[in-house]
Amino acid sequence: MKSKKELRKKILGIRNKMPKEDVENNSRIIMNKIIGLKTYKQSKVIFVYMDFKNEVMTSDLIKHMLAEKKRVVIPYTDIVNTLVIPSEITEEADLKLSPFGYNEPKKIMPVDVEEIDLVLVPGVVFDKNLNRIGFGKGYYDRILKNLKPGAKKIGLAHDFQVLDEIPAEDHDIKMDMIITESSSYGDDINF
Ligand SMILES: Nc1ncnc2c1ncn2[C@@H]1O[C@H](COP(=O)(O)OP(=O)(O)OP(=O)(O)O)[C@@H](O)[C@H]1O
Ligand SMILES: [Mg+2]
Repeated sequence: MKSKKELRKKILGIRNKMPKEDVENNSRIIMNKIIGLKTYKQSKVIFVYMDFKNEVMTSDLIKHMLAEKKRVVIPYTDIVNTLVIPSEITEEADLKLSPFGYNEPKKIMPVDVEEIDLVLVPGVVFDKNLNRIGFGKGYYDRILKNLKPGAKKIGLAHDFQVLDEIPAEDHDIKMDMIITESSSYGDDINF
């Protein structure tokens, strides 16, 4: 099996070359799948990443969630301590571009991890057994392990990001579901 590092490089190589139009089309399809899920409808507090570099886009979904009066929580990246601080936004104007090219909250409004009902998780590579590889710093593994029992983790990906099998270590947190433009993996029945 290829190493995490090799897999990241390979899949990022493909993703970085995607036409913007494909990213937008896939993102629209995936958003529509999410908003149809029972688990989405039942979730009051949703933690969602801010996309960058051809990740499945979340901006329209965030608009939709705010309009539906969901509580929207996004990551503030504390680089010094390599951790993510979940921070609530109440309108799009609460955002500003970070030095890395993704949006971050203008002002940190911390939310207790235990309040989160659903997390929409970014990733570089996933597999059909719901394993996930991110950018390699463990930011998401560290926050996801503190979620309350019953909180759901849904990985969002383009089809080519989901492989048959990838390496997983003890600290890697599995998804409950993965959604791509043409498939869903995981325990669909409970969603
Ligand atoms: N729960 C944890 N506690 C402490 N350190 C951790 C934890 N999870 C991951 N790490 C650290 O993060 C490093 C990178 O983890 P890993 O290779 O799984 O990253 P990743 O899942 O690809 O990244 P990310 O979660 O940021 O997208 C690990 O080598 C480990 O040292
Ligand atoms: Mg990991």
